[in-house]
Amino acid sequence: MRKLYKMSLYNFRGKIELGDVTSHNIKQLKLLNQVVFPVSYNDKFYKDVLEAGELAKLAYYNDMVVGGVCCRIDISEGQRRLYIMTLGCLAPYRRLGIGTKMLQHVLNFVEKDGNFHAIFLHVQVNNDSALEFYKKFGFEVVETKEHYYKRIEPADANVLQKTLIPSKD
Ligand SMILES: CC(C)(COP(=O)(O)OP(=O)(O)OC[C@H]1O[C@@H](n2cnc3c(N)ncnc32)[C@H](O)[C@@H]1OP(=O)(O)O)[C@@H](O)C(=O)NCCC(=O)NCCS
Repeated sequence: MRKLYKMSLYNFRGKIELGDVTSHNIKQLKLLNQVVFPVSYNDKFYKDVLEAGELAKLAYYNDMVVGGVCCRIDISEGQRRLYIMTLGCLAPYRRLGIGTKMLQHVLNFVEKDGNFHAIFLHVQVNNDSALEFYKKFGFEVVETKEHYYKRIEPADANVLQKTLIPSKD
């Protein structure tokens, strides 16, 4: 009985997988980001994504591209941190665990590396769903940057951070 219940739950939620970003599918990532984010990303962004290896992934739901995550390594003020540039899922496919699958990949990457001080990202101050999502994984608002965005309203951004290695001071 218990086993049957588990199987039907799996079928209901579908199959979620991550795949590499390559020159063959990067257009799908561009389209996805255009739909999901209010900010547009330039050619340099996508050129770097192609070199990012495990730091950029497409998310598939039953073999369809429905999400993507792009990160880069940030070294500033003597700290090595992972910066999440984009992590998004198409609206009809939200609350199915796709965001979790992508973030879990990022968390596994930093854990395996073992040498990141923190993971951080910017989110628009009105983005309550992203705030709830990241809070679930131990991120907290560490700063609010006024006028961070140039072409969208509200222009202010919260900096969300999950600290991995506490600084010595
Ligand atoms: C934030 C985002 C990536 C979450 O993706 P998702 O696939 O819906 O996330 P999950 O299904 O894995 O959600 C995991 C948990 O996060 C929390 N959560 C996610 N969306 C939420 C919402 N709208 N309201 C409250 N909690 C939410 C819940 O605890 C959820 O677990 P539950 O569904 O069992 O309650 C998605 O909303 C999105 O793409 N938003 C637009 C892009 C964006 O703003 N990205 C963040 C900046 S990079």
